[in-house]
Amino acid sequence: MDAREFGGPLAWKDRAREALGTARRRLGDLLRPLPAEVLSTQHSPLMSPPIWDVAHLANYEEQWLLRSLGEPGLVGAETDRMYDAIRNPRASRSTLPLLGVAETFAYAEQVRARALRHLDGLDEEALVQTGALLEGGFVYGMVAQHEQQHVETLIATLQLVSSTALPPLPGALPRPDRGSLSREVRVRGGAFRMGTDAPWAYDNERPQHGVDVPEFFIDRFPVSNEDFLAFIDDGGYRRQELWHPAGWAFREAERLEHPLFWRRSAQGWERRRFALWEALPGAEPVCHVSWYEADAYARWAARRLPTEAEWEKAAASAPDGTVRRYPWGDTPPDLSRANLWPLGGHPASVGAFPAGASAWGAEQLVGDVWEWTASDFGPYPGFRAFPYPEYSAVFFGPEYKILRGGSWAVAPDAIRNTFRNWDYPIRRQIFAGFRCARDA
Ligand SMILES: [Fe+2]
Repeated sequence: MDAREFGGPLAWKDRAREALGTARRRLGDLLRPLPAEVLSTQHSPLMSPPIWDVAHLANYEEQWLLRSLGEPGLVGAETDRMYDAIRNPRASRSTLPLLGVAETFAYAEQVRARALRHLDGLDEEALVQTGALLEGGFVYGMVAQHEQQHVETLIATLQLVSSTALPPLPGALPRPDRGSLSREVRVRGGAFRMGTDAPWAYDNERPQHGVDVPEFFIDRFPVSNEDFLAFIDDGGYRRQELWHPAGWAFREAERLEHPLFWRRSAQGWERRRFALWEALPGAEPVCHVSWYEADAYARWAARRLPTEAEWEKAAASAPDGTVRRYPWGDTPPDLSRANLWPLGGHPASVGAFPAGASAWGAEQLVGDVWEWTASDFGPYPGFRAFPYPEYSAVFFGPEYKILRGGSWAVAPDAIRNTFRNWDYPIRRQIFAGFRCARDA
């Protein structure tokens, strides 16, 4: 695909404006109700103070939608350095002389106003001069998705703050009973086209390329809390033989006995959702488990995690050889197909979205919880770093595992079948669960 997908060399301008506006509205909706103290505090060494995220978003936007497009910047090298994610590990960000709450939001607004003015003035001459960054509106899609991704990071930060209630969310999630369905689906062997060349895709999703995947079975739904409890009750956290050696060492060091944000009370298992402790909902996908816990569960169940090629094939391919942008087809996500931000504020029960099934019958691949896969983060054949190596290339290697599908806290603009997320296998504060697979 190329710029013509949007119907003309500048026809993407409306879409760019809309994507930036949606991202900013969601950021404001999330942060506006919060006291200044919550915004400026570092709540965990795993996360930034929320105002760091906001100023970082503004600084990133300044670099990509102003300076790289020939506009003057607003701040100097020192501020750039302070809000550079690579230079400043998260644990160190509260020690920086950060902008205050009001200054941070003012900075973000100034950058946005200038970026929109520049976008309004773009003409075909600018396209010729700037080249690839503007092709199909790429750089605007990149900045809008970046902002949406930080909204999810901020939601994860708020989940770590046990005193903060997330503002009520509008949706009521369906609670179906579809227990009579087989728990797994079969995906036929053969080649499929993995990855994408769509205009707003990231460099690590490109290029689309053929991959041969032998026949396999994959779970119809993500592993539920109830499923995971059976693993706990069967001594799963005490049986070293089920664990990857590094995972066992991690379990021992952290004394892990259950997923993060769970506790056992006199009433039974509970989980904390923002400021609220509630009875563990058995039918929801398990969330806040590390890759090591997912891997141990799969071994206990005599199954395994799917590779990312299997995951994407189950989500994107169809028996007739076509590929889809979302599991159900090319239509953007809506409330009947996937639980994405801002719908429910937590994962939906398994079976809640039959209309979101893939061609092979797998459900809830998009939304609810990110799904750990067996695969390390690496480049596709023909990968080219764009527009900067710090987006993906510097993270390639065996220390990161791939997650797919997005969580309930991901915005529709920031997820598709080909989207690749990555994190350390010990990470638990992210909205991550998994499903299992097995060879046919
Ligand atoms: Fe970022």
